[in-house]
Amino acid sequence: MSRLANKHIIIGVTGGIAAYKSPELVRRLVEEAALVQVVMSHHAQSFITPLTLQAVSGNPVRTELIDEGAEAAMSHIELARWADLIVVAPATANFMARLAGGFADDLLATLCLAARGPVALAPAMNEVMWSAAATRRNARQLEADERLLWGPGVGSQACGDEGAGRMLEPHALVEHCIAALTPKSLEGLCVVVTAGPTREAFDPVRYISNHSSGKQGFAMAAAAAAAGAHVELVTGPVSLPTPVGTHRTDLSSASEMYAAVMDKTANADIFIGVAAVSDYRPKHVQAQKIKKDRMEGEQLEIELVQNADIAACVASQHPGVYTVGFAAETQHLERHAREKRVRKGLDMIIANDVSDQSIGFNSDENAVTLVWDDGESRIASTPKSELGTILIERITELYRQSPKAR
Ligand SMILES: Cc1cc2nc3c(=O)[nH]c(=O)nc-3n(C[C@H](O)[C@H](O)[C@H](O)COP(=O)(O)O)c2cc1C
Repeated sequence: MSRLANKHIIIGVTGGIAAYKSPELVRRLVEEAALVQVVMSHHAQSFITPLTLQAVSGNPVRTELIDEGAEAAMSHIELARWADLIVVAPATANFMARLAGGFADDLLATLCLAARGPVALAPAMNEVMWSAAATRRNARQLEADERLLWGPGVGSQACGDEGAGRMLEPHALVEHCIAALTPKSLEGLCVVVTAGPTREAFDPVRYISNHSSGKQGFAMAAAAAAAGAHVELVTGPVSLPTPVGTHRTDLSSASEMYAAVMDKTANADIFIGVAAVSDYRPKHVQAQKIKKDRMEGEQLEIELVQNADIAACVASQHPGVYTVGFAAETQHLERHAREKRVRKGLDMIIANDVSDQSIGFNSDENAVTLVWDDGESRIASTPKSELGTILIERITELYRQSPKAR
């Protein structure tokens, strides 16, 4: 994965219990190809050692403001300039107060003050500390100073309390970093994304479904949100965390998805249908569980009726919406995709070969072919999260060239 390729990020670590998660954050950023330097407060070193963070970042960790050797190699002002983004995770109540007050009494606070790029804080503290009047006041001041506050989340805390104050998980902080460093090419636009499978019940306990994991749709939604869009994510049953910055609607059947999508696309600019919507649903849903009262080998017949084609309906009923569909094919990929795009009236279709086990359904990688009215391009096997970003870039480009762009 390389969504942060060549991005320079300083991770500041202050003295909170959530410092044990900082190495995981650094590791994930490095996996995304970011160049990471870590700066720790004095108290942070009581919670985690600089050696651990040096090992995961691949760079010496800086802890001192007054340090002749380090200063000669890269001065604190150069270090502040080096950073595209500074993220303090965890940010203690004490650090929030110092930054809100404009203090420059240690290396990390000085870097934040000297930074030209964005400075983000991931607050982490006991919920009473988080709701204390002074912390509320400092949070308001930091926002007024255009510092980014990422979190905190709500949940169980290390001290045994329950409530607001948990540091966001490392994977969510990485998504925030990507969003903070992504050009806002979709600012002001509304993008509706569908994801996952649908479930078509035929009795109260059974349904027809498919193997869609939702990973590709969630990656697209995350990338669109990172590009500044208002994202409505409409998803079938999946076990994935909600991507940062998206509005999520969970539902089950194709009919429910149809209703939600038609409602949300009424005011949308772009629709991206990634969900593997069931083509058919049982004609009758039995009120009671169907009993196993046949002989072995005896048939049970379930009549199916065809569901509405959601992407085609968006294209015909909301013709101003730039409509992108996904096509899962098992043979003649390009030809079927071209025919499908025209038949459904879509602006673009993204086709993938689901007969290849190494890509597509349930896998972390995907390889696709993009087909639009006067062009076609192929993207080789790529991690789905990265592919989400690439596809959103391509969709944005083609949307901007289309008469539907505003
Ligand atoms: C065991 C322990 C855990 C702590 N956890 C937190 C915490 O999660 N959040 C916080 O704001 N302060 C926490 N503190 C208090 C900070 O360590 C203290 O305010 C310190 O001065 C922070 O220094 P720094 O902001 O320069 O790193 C904790 C203290 C101890 C002893």
